[in-house]
Amino acid sequence: MTSKIAVIGFGNIAKAIITPLFDKNLLNPKDVYCLVNTKKSLENIRKNYKYDINIFQAKSKGSEIIWDCKVKLLSVKPQQLKNIIELENKNNKNNLLISILAGVSLGKLIKIFPNHKCVRVVTNIPITIGKGLTGISWGDEIIEDQKQFIRGLFENSSKIYEFPEDLLDIFLSITSSGPALIALIIEALSDGGLSGGLQKKLSEELVIEMILGTVSLIKETNLTTAELKNMVTSPGGTTIAALRVLENRSLRSALIEAVVSATNRSKEFC
Ligand SMILES: NC(=O)c1ccc[n+]([C@@H]2O[C@H](COP(=O)([O-])OP(=O)(O)OC[C@H]3O[C@@H](n4cnc5c(N)ncnc54)[C@H](OP(=O)(O)O)[C@@H]3O)[C@@H](O)[C@H]2O)c1
Repeated sequence: MTSKIAVIGFGNIAKAIITPLFDKNLLNPKDVYCLVNTKKSLENIRKNYKYDINIFQAKSKGSEIIWDCKVKLLSVKPQQLKNIIELENKNNKNNLLISILAGVSLGKLIKIFPNHKCVRVVTNIPITIGKGLTGISWGDEIIEDQKQFIRGLFENSSKIYEFPEDLLDIFLSITSSGPALIALIIEALSDGGLSGGLQKKLSEELVIEMILGTVSLIKETNLTTAELKNMVTSPGGTTIAALRVLENRSLRSALIEAVVSATNRSKEFC
């Protein structure tokens, strides 16, 4: 992987994307120019980050060098975007800007960064352990070489899906909000175990292992969810008693509405 990369906002997610590329020698830390907002983060990265990158505090002397990089990864929080002001670089008209900001549309990015070709990416928190899901929506005029380069940035830490932009909101809802929904389900099932007399830690461990096992079974055997449900639901048994409660309380509908609601919220941000 060549050329200099700027990272505007070297926080949790940016580190999760960039660090595996250093680990695998696909990127040289000397070619990466990062910006953070506070002195505290700057010092923390200088002291504790395992690679010697070029790191600057926003608006500090010399930090404008990031605008010389052909590729920029934009990774600030959406509410911090208003503080990022594009510096035009006449020598580098084909600059590429890859935004991972939740709910910021390509149209908005192009207005803020008129001298860049923009790409919108949605990724999720498991990217921090190399198990992310990344959705990419290409802006106009992105050539195949640039697409390959961008895929290369994300494929070491996530599985990549390419979508038209109007499907990114639903992708975000399932993949980015999804981990919170799953965490809530784990928490609630563990509390069920607690109610039955199990220690909290053991109950949570059992729930997590049960979910991992169930998901592996579905993936490895290609069972449909309906087939799996039928396999463990015997007439008049315990599972149908549990499922009856969930149907009574409309869990299915609540989950559908949760996904739709997150999607609508994402559209409001754009
Ligand atoms: N967290 C998630 O689950 C998740 C998942 C997928 C995508 N995302 C997206 O990823 C983006 C980053 O999230 P994150 O969790 O990595 O946030 P984060 O850890 O807070 O990182 C944000 C970074 O931006 C820097 N920053 C803030 N203002 C800046 C400015 N004016 N100039 C330069 N740098 C600036 C911050 O520096 P300081 O530390 O000095 O403030 C920090 O390094 C968000 O837009 C979010 O939508 C997040």
